[in-house]
Amino acid sequence: MRIALALIGFGHVGRRFALLLQELKPALDGRGIEVTVVAIATGHHGAVFDRAGLDTVQAAQRVAGGGLVGPGSASLTAHDLIHQLGSLDTEARVMVETTPLDVQSGEPAISHIRAAFAAGAHVISANKGPVAHAYRALAAEARAAGLQFLFEGAVMDGIPIFNLVRETMPGVKIGSFRGVVNSTTNHILTAMERGEAFDAALARMQAAGVAEADASLDVDGWDAAAKVAAMANVWMDAGITPRDVEREGISAVDAPRLLAAVAVGHHVKLVGRATRTNVGVRASVQLETLDVSDPLGSLEGQANALEIETDILGRVVITQRDGGLEKTAYALFVDLIAVANATSKAVPKRPQRSFSEGTP
Ligand SMILES: NC(=O)c1ccc[n+]([C@@H]2O[C@H](COP(=O)([O-])OP(=O)(O)OC[C@H]3O[C@@H](n4cnc5c(N)ncnc54)[C@H](OP(=O)(O)O)[C@@H]3O)[C@@H](O)[C@H]2O)c1
Repeated sequence: MRIALALIGFGHVGRRFALLLQELKPALDGRGIEVTVVAIATGHHGAVFDRAGLDTVQAAQRVAGGGLVGPGSASLTAHDLIHQLGSLDTEARVMVETTPLDVQSGEPAISHIRAAFAAGAHVISANKGPVAHAYRALAAEARAAGLQFLFEGAVMDGIPIFNLVRETMPGVKIGSFRGVVNSTTNHILTAMERGEAFDAALARMQAAGVAEADASLDVDGWDAAAKVAAMANVWMDAGITPRDVEREGISAVDAPRLLAAVAVGHHVKLVGRATRTNVGVRASVQLETLDVSDPLGSLEGQANALEIETDILGRVVITQRDGGLEKTAYALFVDLIAVANATSKAVPKRPQRSFSEGTP
């Protein structure tokens, strides 16, 4: 299967994904999938399109050096590229959306996704904004267009939580979930328990490309709120946005509070929750003091965990011991394979015929 790919966003995640496509080429070859990156868009480093295929290594070097992503690429926009993607004659078109999270609106990612659907392109994304703000509408639009809208990397990096529920829990009803889902804040809380300063721990996450471009999104609980909204929208049809999530950040936490908890076998964690109620879904992100025996209580560093309470399977706990960029890039890779599988299974659309045409 030939897939033409547009990378909309070429930062930490987009570049790591481009590299992973090369590292895992044997896995693509083994499935008969031939991927050509035809477009790359950035915010401040221009955009570039070549239907014959782009050299992503060179493009990454140019961007890392502070230059434009391609020669003479300053005037093209992401929307231009998505439109050009739609004009290609290929078996599948895929847009990979990795622009920064805008927690208040989900834009520009939502507009990019709608443009991709209009261009007949499947969408895979690590950006939780569109799922947190517009999941119901975007999923319906994708279904109507016969296209995939996948976002495994949006929550818990590469751990397949959305795939797990969608593919392996048909008919199961999720009544509530709770989780530690922000790596940056969990890393900071763990580091402070060990005597390190807040700022130094945050700087480490920024240097690793794990913290959001605007780190206050992590520290103030917005990133976790967006993830809670995204999961609640997908699993509970909550129809909420991050603003509907009662929210607390970690900036008011001091070392004495953390050490007092540790002294009695507890840990302070930033916990996101959502619960179905008679009047809709109630969601929050709050500091909680948890016993070390709690699956969320003992998480260290960048580790994340999620406990899903289901009607049939009871409580299911998923733990991610090691987060990081490579895992998020891998989630995009998994979504790409899923698109290829779905496309190869899709029944080709037949031309409409009226009954009066009769049978041959
Ligand atoms: N980093 C992680 O570990 C991680 C994990 C899970 C999910 N995510 C999500 O993945 C997404 C990307 O994260 P990241 O760490 O790669 O962010 P990043 O390093 O800030 O990269 C964002 C990219 O988007 C580009 N961009 C900004 N505005 C754009 C626009 N209007 N049109 C086209 N491109 C635009 C930026 O270009 P310029 O640099 O030129 O502005 C940059 O190439 C975010 O939504 C984030 O929440 C990240």
